[in-house]
Amino acid sequence: MSQTQPYYITTPIYYVNDQPHIGHVYSTTVADIVARYRRLCGQDVFFLTGVDEHAAKVVDAAAQRGLSAQQWADRNAEIFEQTFIRFGMSNNDFIRTSQDRHKTRVQQYVQALMQSGDVYQGEYEGWYDAGQEEYVPDNKAKEYDYKSPINGKPLVKRAEKNYFFRLSKYQHALLSQLEENPQAVQPDARRNEVVARIREGLNDVPISRTGAGGWGIAFPGDEQHAIYVWIDALFNYLTTVDADDRRRYWPADVHLIAKDILWFHAVIWPAVLMALHQRPGYEWVRPAHQVYAHSFWISEGQKMSKSLGNFVDLAKLDHYVATFGLDALRFFLASSGPLGVNDSDFAEARFIDVYNSELANGLGNCASRVSNMTGRYFDGKLPAAIVHVPESEPYANAATGCVARYRQAMDKLQLDKAAAAAMELVRAVDSYIEKTQPFKMIKDPAKKPDVATILYQCAECIRIASVLLWPIMPAKMEQLWDRLGCSSYTAALANRGRGDLDAWTQWGRLQPDTPIQSGDPLFPRYQPPKA
Ligand code: MSP
Repeated sequence: MSQTQPYYITTPIYYVNDQPHIGHVYSTTVADIVARYRRLCGQDVFFLTGVDEHAAKVVDAAAQRGLSAQQWADRNAEIFEQTFIRFGMSNNDFIRTSQDRHKTRVQQYVQALMQSGDVYQGEYEGWYDAGQEEYVPDNKAKEYDYKSPINGKPLVKRAEKNYFFRLSKYQHALLSQLEENPQAVQPDARRNEVVARIREGLNDVPISRTGAGGWGIAFPGDEQHAIYVWIDALFNYLTTVDADDRRRYWPADVHLIAKDILWFHAVIWPAVLMALHQRPGYEWVRPAHQVYAHSFWISEGQKMSKSLGNFVDLAKLDHYVATFGLDALRFFLASSGPLGVNDSDFAEARFIDVYNSELANGLGNCASRVSNMTGRYFDGKLPAAIVHVPESEPYANAATGCVARYRQAMDKLQLDKAAAAAMELVRAVDSYIEKTQPFKMIKDPAKKPDVATILYQCAECIRIASVLLWPIMPAKMEQLWDRLGCSSYTAALANRGRGDLDAWTQWGRLQPDTPIQSGDPLFPRYQPPKA
């Protein structure tokens, strides 16, 4: 991987009919962690998130409140944007589909598609899932008992005169693309689902809508129609970087999404891009390198629902942040979230357990032990590792192994495995201290040089672990860097700056004599309030 290589990661753009919840915060946090990791590696990163405004349910939600769709969209878009700022997201841009920069481009793309011969006018009748703004194929509708698989509401039979995109024409191209590049849809099980469904045959898809009450982007050349919200929305990934100083980011490296919107991203979107690619001026437009679809959070063992009262909404997330800190929430999302094909349970007991065992008793306690001993035995200055301590051998090597495992995991978006690799290093320090017992050794003055070596090596392991954990817990790791005399890392990474993971994870970078500060515990142990 070349350091200056551009890296482009996107999240879904979220509907603004309602406020953000754990699902939205989760996807954007995962993308943020990956973006930060890539910047830490020195790459030229563009990280995009934003909101999808032109859905019919935005019109409905606004009407219920006596507002215009734009007013309601403005209000919620602001809440999404502020929420992401509050949750520490480092996105480079925030796209709103009602912005002119987006609308103009989308109309240009649709016009180009019209000229491609891949768009025709026709009539469509089918089962419509209003919540998802999506037609469900007849066989699927039957399988779902004519209810939405997402929200359980009845599907409605609907007929429309529309413009259609010839998706059917791309069956072969999509299949061969997935065969040649299995990474294009991940995880593997999700790709297999997609491949199986493409093999069943592809129906052409509507790209226009009527009757959205003027809400949406006007269809070029036909004022009766608006561009179908999903086509409008998918184009956000392209409109945002379709400018001279940003085109280098295309094709996107990863479209991070969840399983609910896989079909649009893994099938319709690449086919639309293939069609556009053939038009003059759009040769640079190609499908993204990868669509990664994670699974869902459930809550306290059940599907989230407002009526069950287990909905992890903003208020609940803010409560977690106030109680445990933002970085603890980010760590929990990264280490326990539904990145694979299974859903994950957001349960308070599970959160507390991860917090106390991994962060309070693990990382926080380990960092305190090392800085406290340095304070007590060496006047708070990092001692040099002069003598050889036989027990130390495995630990320097542990760092090399952990860094390699961490990088492999991060490159595959396996944040849980990456976090585990970094935490292994923390555990290695704990077991090194248990084994050598420097707090006993120090009673024998002849052993002081051994203690010096042990503490130096422990501090080195903690420093390297802190570099690896920075994408997940940036604020806490920067605090730790201040204490370890590594504030230069913070400076390099400030304002979406770039780091140097290779150099910063090299063994032996800490300079002896560096003042090591103890400070308050990074992660104070959590005691649940007595009932
Ligand atoms: N607007 C469309 C996406 C257009 S992208 C071109 C949309 N919006 S949404 O508001 O419904 O957001 C869906 C996304 O939110 C999911 O794909 C996922 O990223 C996230 N999540 C929503 N609920 C979730 C969970 N319960 N768990 C994890 N993530 C989930 O669909």
